[in-house]
Amino acid sequence: MQIQENISLKPYNTFGMDVLARYFYAFSTVDQMQEIGASDSFKHYPVLVLGGGSNMLLTTNFDGLVIKNEIPGIELLSEDANHYFVKVGAGVDWHEFVLYCLEKNYAGVENLALIPGKVGASPMQNIGAYGVEMKDVFHSLEAINVDDLNLVTFYNSDCEFGYRESVFKNKCKNQFVITSVTFRLNKVPIFKTGYGAIEYALQEMKVDTLSIQHIAQAVMRIRNSKLPNPNVIGNAGSFFKNPEIDTIQFESLKKYFPNINGYPTDSGKIKIAAGWLIEQAGWKGYRNGDAGCHDKQALVLVNHGNATGIEVFELSENIISSVHDKFGIFLHREVNIY
Ligand code: EPU
Repeated sequence: MQIQENISLKPYNTFGMDVLARYFYAFSTVDQMQEIGASDSFKHYPVLVLGGGSNMLLTTNFDGLVIKNEIPGIELLSEDANHYFVKVGAGVDWHEFVLYCLEKNYAGVENLALIPGKVGASPMQNIGAYGVEMKDVFHSLEAINVDDLNLVTFYNSDCEFGYRESVFKNKCKNQFVITSVTFRLNKVPIFKTGYGAIEYALQEMKVDTLSIQHIAQAVMRIRNSKLPNPNVIGNAGSFFKNPEIDTIQFESLKKYFPNINGYPTDSGKIKIAAGWLIEQAGWKGYRNGDAGCHDKQALVLVNHGNATGIEVFELSENIISSVHDKFGIFLHREVNIY
């Protein structure tokens, strides 16, 4: 086991926060993970499992063991009349998996192109974009239970997926290390182009016969135009979730703010675009030192270089309270804070 000591986590989180991990270990097999889990040396330390570090804000040094999941591999397991079942190692880059599907013509993840992070993290918060969520193509996953180190399988209904939610963020938090995810991809694509921005991008691309590759291209165009590239400006995508409010509150807000954006959800609530709320509260493009609010998408907080996690966290607190003062709506963070 190659354990490193006192190493900076800056290269391992997309916000680029320069904090130290007391111990650091990268594993690429289930056996290696089980071996470190069984080792007495780390029994009394807190453990933090890292994938791509793309949905976290590190605010302080981590006085414990950071383990980085690098399990590789993409494998076609089986197929039926309508689907391909593909098993993917948790350490595979999400976009690399999307590119694999585009090349093979396996449909279902084209709307999820260019999302930063690793496949193993995708079920944690049920990643989603442009009208598709990971749960729509999820078949099952394998994970190690940190208590007994057994490998267990979770099927779709076990995961309690919701909007940026799963059992792994709630009652099973810190209980399992995901080692692989199996996806059920479609042989015949079901195109999801209803999201306004996609329709617009496809029109601009002048597409004749629609394909999953076109949709992925449209999504990449939109993302590249609005979302900062974490290799250039530190960020973790949307920092907050889009809040859901009841229709009565929505109707009364509409009287004061006729342009407020709201979409009905399956649960009978109205989902509000948090980016709009934050922009209206005056934060879009705001910068204090190196912590800021992105100038093209207010839902994304950024580290322009040397911001600390605390500074970004404080900015998020100020945004939450100012949005609450203006609209009476509480924003909840999507990003995990450590
Ligand atoms: N808007 C503003 N000002 C802003 C940003 C957005 O007015 O600064 C308005 C837009 O005009 C639009 C609406 O808000 O009418 C929605 O904006 P957008 O399409 O950019 O989507 P979003 O709701 O802000 C969500 C996801 C993104 C995902 C996009 C596209 C959440 C928390 N975020 O953002 O996911 O890419 O939809 O589907 O649900 C992520 O989770 O990290 C992420 C980037």
